Amino acid sequence: MEKNVIITGSNRGIGKAILKKFAKEGCNIWACARSPKKEFEDELKEIADKNGVWIEPIYFDLTSSESIKTGFKQIWASKKKIDVLVNNAGIAFIDLFQLTPEQKIRETFEVNVFSVMTLTQLVLKMMTRQHSGAIVNMASIGGIDAYPAHCAYGASKAAVIGFTKALSSEMAQWGIRVNAVAPGATETDMIVSFENKSGGNLLKNCAMKRKAKPEEIANTVYFLSSDEAAFINGQVIRVDGGST
Ligand SMILES: NC(=O)c1ccc[n+]([C@@H]2O[C@H](COP(=O)([O-])OP(=O)(O)OC[C@H]3O[C@@H](n4cnc5c(N)ncnc54)[C@H](OP(=O)(O)O)[C@@H]3O)[C@@H](O)[C@H]2O)c1
Repeated sequence: MEKNVIITGSNRGIGKAILKKFAKEGCNIWACARSPKKEFEDELKEIADKNGVWIEPIYFDLTSSESIKTGFKQIWASKKKIDVLVNNAGIAFIDLFQLTPEQKIRETFEVNVFSVMTLTQLVLKMMTRQHSGAIVNMASIGGIDAYPAHCAYGASKAAVIGFTKALSSEMAQWGIRVNAVAPGATETDMIVSFENKSGGNLLKNCAMKRKAKPEEIANTVYFLSSDEAAFINGQVIRVDGGST
């Protein structure tokens, strides 16, 4: 599909796998990352050349709505259609609630929830003009199921799910679909903090007893954004190997 796609947190982990998947499928990409790095830009050029697409790095820090707005101005200035927004970037704070400083709860919501709302509001200005678009938000099974040490993170991902559902019902009239993916444990840097706090129980509830590969999450994000999913709206798709 030849579409123009915004992906946050595209420099590593699941976001990088999403970037590679969309490029492979012939999409052009605004690759959002926190700060400029030469290796990142070299890799983007390599992926773009290999797949015959354009990939433009856009830098902003999700803890600052001013930074998000400045970054988005670059996208808006291109006057290009925005077909897909993937709100992938996120942070995890994993600890028992009574050991969780209020500041960590606020930081978690700032990046995982408020920045998603800020960027989505900006992108919708374009998508509503177009009367088309697909938004895929990154939730987590931690926002659906009960896990200890997940109060800040799990609550932020539950908020992402609530946002996804409410927004999907508002935006359908504009031809815009909004869905979410809820991964289980996935092989990225982030999972280290979960592993450290899990006491060896990380995969206890996972029927397939393994972590997801970032590419397996990326495939579902791509599917939800594609025309193959044209009648899927307001849904949360678990990609977690099943539950015991
Ligand atoms: N890994 C899992 O097991 C798992 C499970 C369920 C859901 N998820 C969700 O999947 C998404 C991706 O996770 P991941 O595992 O790929 O995590 P990761 O490897 O830790 O990568 C997180 C990405 O988010 C970016 N990011 C974080 N804070 C940012 C900020 N303030 N401004 C701009 N960018 C920021 C990071 O940029 P920097 O490189 O600059 O830090 C990085 O690109 C997250 O929403 C996460 O909650 C992950």
